[in-house]
Amino acid sequence: MAETAELRVGDKTYELPIIEGSEGERAIDISKLRADSGLITLDPGYGNTGSCESAITFIDGEKGILRYRGYPIEELAEHSSFLEVAHLLMAGNLPSASELEKFRESIRYHTMLHEDFKSVFSSLPKDAHPMAACSAAVGALATFYPDSLDPRDPREVEVSVHRLIAKMPTIASYAFKHSIGQPFMYPDNRLDYVENFLHLMFATPCEDFTVDPVVAKAIDLLLILHADHEQNCSTSTVRLVGSSNANLFAAISAGINALWGPRHGGANQEVIEMLKTIEGEGVSGREFVERAKDRDDTSRLSGFGHRVYKNFDPRAKIIKKACFDVLEKLGVNSKLLEIAVELEEIALKDDYFVQRNLYPNVDFYSGVIYTAIGTPDKMFTAMFALGRLPGWIAHWLEMHAQDQRIGRPRQVYQGELSRSYVPASSR
Ligand code: CMC
Repeated sequence: MAETAELRVGDKTYELPIIEGSEGERAIDISKLRADSGLITLDPGYGNTGSCESAITFIDGEKGILRYRGYPIEELAEHSSFLEVAHLLMAGNLPSASELEKFRESIRYHTMLHEDFKSVFSSLPKDAHPMAACSAAVGALATFYPDSLDPRDPREVEVSVHRLIAKMPTIASYAFKHSIGQPFMYPDNRLDYVENFLHLMFATPCEDFTVDPVVAKAIDLLLILHADHEQNCSTSTVRLVGSSNANLFAAISAGINALWGPRHGGANQEVIEMLKTIEGEGVSGREFVERAKDRDDTSRLSGFGHRVYKNFDPRAKIIKKACFDVLEKLGVNSKLLEIAVELEEIALKDDYFVQRNLYPNVDFYSGVIYTAIGTPDKMFTAMFALGRLPGWIAHWLEMHAQDQRIGRPRQVYQGELSRSYVPASSR
């Protein structure tokens, strides 16, 4: 007989089914609780709430395990490519050679943006943050490509998915080019996905540009490592917005905004700014760690801590190693990397961080690589968005396949009781 949990309220007992996940995680199914008992559950920040059943990504935060569709992140990082991982996340399996080629071909076909799109970027202030520009531009895709907006039409969905993946590097690079006053580049479809992105970002019309294979490999790795992370804030946003049957572009645009926050993807920019402040002010690592622990000081150790990982974030381990490899291959000597390593060493031995299980997360070392290859700080979170895109799409697709109801949490009202309107003259 299936296992159940019992909830006793007063003299009534409610039996609640227990759902078991494929990796043994157990959850009490409360979906009928309100209908049966009139009660709801309260869980601000959703630390104990499963919003869906999902087959995309598995995390064991206690053991530091991350798998996409069953494949360990370490193996994908070593052997796969970003487009292959994107296909894996969205379709559920690694593609055959011909499926992958067909997918690449379709992505190549859609890389260019509508020519009038340039005016979307040109109308923004030069110092617009790239995340604001990217979110606006992805939302605007719905105005340029209204022929692929119906979430219930499989052909339209496929076209919008391929358009989005293909155009995102072009969009991110236009946000950057506009900020530095350089002309927008056209995609070069002889290049692969990551090479094309680097071309769009760093080439100019007046000089030849050759993609450095070390840089292309490093970016490909970072994109793989960022590609999905189950029900994080931005992915939950994409699912929630998507649950209203809003089109894919609208849902992803919302996800980009959620990712921007410094507690989420925006932490990669915060980390590099923190390292630069420490370098610029000549503060010692120890002094900064003390500040991060002080409740009366607003400083936090950016790039440390995670809601789910109570052990090393496996992505951070891979990125730290890549950091040393890439910097050595590029011949870059980075003071920022030295400071990051020192901060990590101090924090990992400090009682405050040990007791709270705070470890470096994905954002702690990534910015050192982005900086070494010439990416400005403000672009870091847009690079994260580029990586997370297939994960967001995979969740949007999964949610629609499950035919999930509209996402609509409840609340416990704690406000004024009913009172009568008083005209302004009598208040
Ligand atoms: N520096 C100093 N103290 C910290 C930090 C930190 N980076 N992170 C958590 N704490 C403390 C926090 O003050 C709390 O202490 P106490 O129990 O005394 O009140 C305790 O650790 C638990 O933290 P929390 O804020 O309740 O944990 P959370 O699960 O709600 O938040 C987090 C997780 C990632 C938002 C938080 O750790 C944080 O703000 N970290 C810095 C920002 C960051 O690196 N974000 C990127 C996360 S990974 C990539 C991504 O999701 O995009």
